[in-house]
Amino acid sequence: MRSSVMSFVKRSDVFFMLVMLFLMSCSASGSFVNGRQVFNVMMEGAVGDGRTDDGEVFQRVWAMVCRTPSAIMYVPAEGRFSLPPSVFGGPCAPNLLLQVEGTIVALEGPGSGTGHYKSWLVFRNLRDFSVVGNGRINGKGNRWWSQVCRPSMKNCGPNSRPEEPPNGLVFQNSSNVRVSNLRIRDSPKFHLTFSNCDGVYATGLHITAPRDSPNTDGIHLTNSRNVFILNCKIRTGDDCVSIQSGSNRVLIEDIMCGPGHGISVGSLGESKSRACVWGIRVERAIFDRTTNGFRIKTWQGGSGHAHGMRFVNSRMNRVHNPVVIDQYYCDSPTPCANQTSAVAISEIIIANITGTSSSNSAVRIKCSDHVPCRNIVLQNIAVRTGPDQDLSNAHFSCWNAYGFISNITNPMSCALLPQPPLDTGLVDSSKPYQIPQGC
Ligand SMILES: *[C@@H]1O[C@H](CO)[C@@H](O)[C@H](O)[C@H]1NC(C)=O
Ligand SMILES: *[C@@H]1O[C@H](CO)[C@@H](O)[C@H](O)[C@H]1NC(C)=O
Ligand SMILES: *[C@@H]1O[C@H](CO)[C@@H](O)[C@H](O)[C@H]1NC(C)=O
Ligand SMILES: *[C@@H]1O[C@H](CO)[C@@H](O)[C@H](O)[C@H]1NC(C)=O
Repeated sequence: MRSSVMSFVKRSDVFFMLVMLFLMSCSASGSFVNGRQVFNVMMEGAVGDGRTDDGEVFQRVWAMVCRTPSAIMYVPAEGRFSLPPSVFGGPCAPNLLLQVEGTIVALEGPGSGTGHYKSWLVFRNLRDFSVVGNGRINGKGNRWWSQVCRPSMKNCGPNSRPEEPPNGLVFQNSSNVRVSNLRIRDSPKFHLTFSNCDGVYATGLHITAPRDSPNTDGIHLTNSRNVFILNCKIRTGDDCVSIQSGSNRVLIEDIMCGPGHGISVGSLGESKSRACVWGIRVERAIFDRTTNGFRIKTWQGGSGHAHGMRFVNSRMNRVHNPVVIDQYYCDSPTPCANQTSAVAISEIIIANITGTSSSNSAVRIKCSDHVPCRNIVLQNIAVRTGPDQDLSNAHFSCWNAYGFISNITNPMSCALLPQPPLDTGLVDSSKPYQIPQGC
């Protein structure tokens, strides 16, 4: 992990280049900065008036950038560029930079055919690729959220054809990708998605959407490894960061989250699926009036393993459920049937957490009757129920979880034991504990 941090840091000579670019009032194609060829979309014919479809120009510029090693695609500050759903695909020459100083906005809302695309801006099959700058990316999601009938709604009229909102920025099948310093707002659905990526560096981002906007997760990871999310401010209507199956070695540091639903691992194991997530570290997070702080949620009936997670040195401000581990997750309208299999959960450290809960819960751990949680460590947690109250109301509750507790003064209905007892009848303790294969 350290060595990949270093390789990213070395590439901070990008910063020097940005300064150079700033000094050049306009950069025509063919100009060079530090030996890197710059393609300015405005010079190539983009209009940037906020109305004209600049999609074709962006594609034409991308084609040139893609075959020019270390090229820079430059989106200047003075423009507001409207783009339809677009794919910026590779493989390309290595070390490309998309520098956004202006604004990129979504061209169309529902009713235009955009709903046939799962995503608005897709970057795929790239290596050593960066999107940086002080610009803005606006998905104009309000047009989607206010659809009278949305796909998940049950009571749509017979003639309404709801359109699924697309995701905002999506990186697929790429390695060493960096997204830095941008302001990203009002995505129709998830703002920033990394799917099948190895080496992700998301830093200094501000991601914003109204607290009541549906499914507007800030950063969504699926099947991605070696991920660094550093110094980001995320305030949306759903998870600040959601981490899905296949993700591992994820470091989240200095994140400010809220409003929103907090940082979630899962939901995992839906429809009896197999899920593997490990190596998640959250440090120095601040949650402000979120529904959850740190949450792991799995459906009954799944398989696989979620393990090796540390959630430490973090603060809660009026968070409804500061810490949740739930192996009975079910968001279907009818209750989910009880099942005997589950995504196993183990080696979870929750430590040095302070602040306030807006409910009477501080920590809620609900593990499967059949697959108990193992090696859960709770240490130095002091969560009050309100700014003026003591610890006496914020509760810890645990069900079928094993591990260690130290230095906790909140009231407990939580007796973590080091090992599952032999006689519960719930687990076959005669068999040694097996870590599920391949996780
Ligand atoms: C993933 O990207 C690489 C190039 O970086 C490409 O060769 C490969 O075909 C891509 N895989 C898929 C499934 O698109
Ligand atoms: C599932 O199990 C829980 C706890 O053992 C029990 O309270 C609940 O009624 C069960 N639900 C169903 C649908 O059987
Ligand atoms: C909790 O904080 C103490 C004091 O700052 C520190 O020594 C300890 O390493 C922290 N625990 C974890 C798990 O980070
Ligand atoms: C116990 O936890 C509290 C709250 O996190 C912390 O301030 C205190 O330093 C801890 N005490 C010890 C002995 O670690």
